[in-house]
Amino acid sequence: MKLKTLFTRAVHIGMEADPRGKKALEKLLKKQQDKYKKLEGKEKEFFDEERLWNPYSDSRIINGTGEEEIRRVMVGIDIETPEVLLADRLRERGEKIDALFIHHPEGRALADLEKVMPLQVDVLAQLGVPVNHAEAQLRPRMDRIWRAIHADNLFRTERAAELLGIPAFNCHTVTDNLVWRFIEQTICKKEYDSLEEIITALRDIPEYTHYAKKGNPPIIAHGSSGGRPGKIVATEFTGGTNGPEDFLEEQSRAGVGTILSMHVTEKTLEEAKKHHVNMIQCSHMASDSIGINLLLDALSKEEKRLDVIEAAGFVRVKRKK
Ligand SMILES: [Fe+2]
Ligand SMILES: [Fe+2]
Repeated sequence: MKLKTLFTRAVHIGMEADPRGKKALEKLLKKQQDKYKKLEGKEKEFFDEERLWNPYSDSRIINGTGEEEIRRVMVGIDIETPEVLLADRLRERGEKIDALFIHHPEGRALADLEKVMPLQVDVLAQLGVPVNHAEAQLRPRMDRIWRAIHADNLFRTERAAELLGIPAFNCHTVTDNLVWRFIEQTICKKEYDSLEEIITALRDIPEYTHYAKKGNPPIIAHGSSGGRPGKIVATEFTGGTNGPEDFLEEQSRAGVGTILSMHVTEKTLEEAKKHHVNMIQCSHMASDSIGINLLLDALSKEEKRLDVIEAAGFVRVKRKK
């Protein structure tokens, strides 16, 4: 399968699991297309044409023409210059690596990370948090993320891949949507008597089993193991990066009892304690692996020969259906 085909399919698979729903996404893309049509001169030159079809600003091909034939990818949750060198070293030793599949954004996917964050408003709206509240609280946080990333050395990994001639692409929110939906369906929708029961259920998911055996299990960041979970949500699985701490109080008011998260910030934890919301911190790398695995399973149906090398935190688990 060509890189371009593979990446386009990945984006569409991510859209199918998106909390906003397909119609809302199509509307969003239409707006970008209408905006683009009206642009001229310099404004048009600086417009990111990727936005005309791909709603995920943190997911894109960062090196390659798209015409490359892809059968075997090195998949990593964090791929930076060391991992690009690792890929090159492996290639030298005879391993076939057609492309790098990167989860945490690099290059322009990182530069534009904060632009996917409005998705969080829709995740919270599903629990009953008013969209006007969430939007108002999210804006300053998005500005902070934008300014913080703005000062980063954004294109090191991209350049390393260019210099070594290795095609590379980012899938971030694309696969985070898939793990969000998976956790919502397999954990949040079920009933548990205690937080400990949730931990046990999580630990039975192969990626968490793998990481738990290596000393990185899902943990209760706030709450007692015998405590009742109340309403369980996975609000911190997709949407670019952590939302503002204010979201904690909003969720508490909306009746949330337990939040499943990939990474809990100290400020969020303080808020959770203040508002009596339980927090379960699911192993970050295991959680990201689940999303990537679900995407690879879907892509493998279309490209039967698709094969992976696991690297940088990623562990491959194949699911049947
Ligand atoms: Fe992720
Ligand atoms: Fe992550």
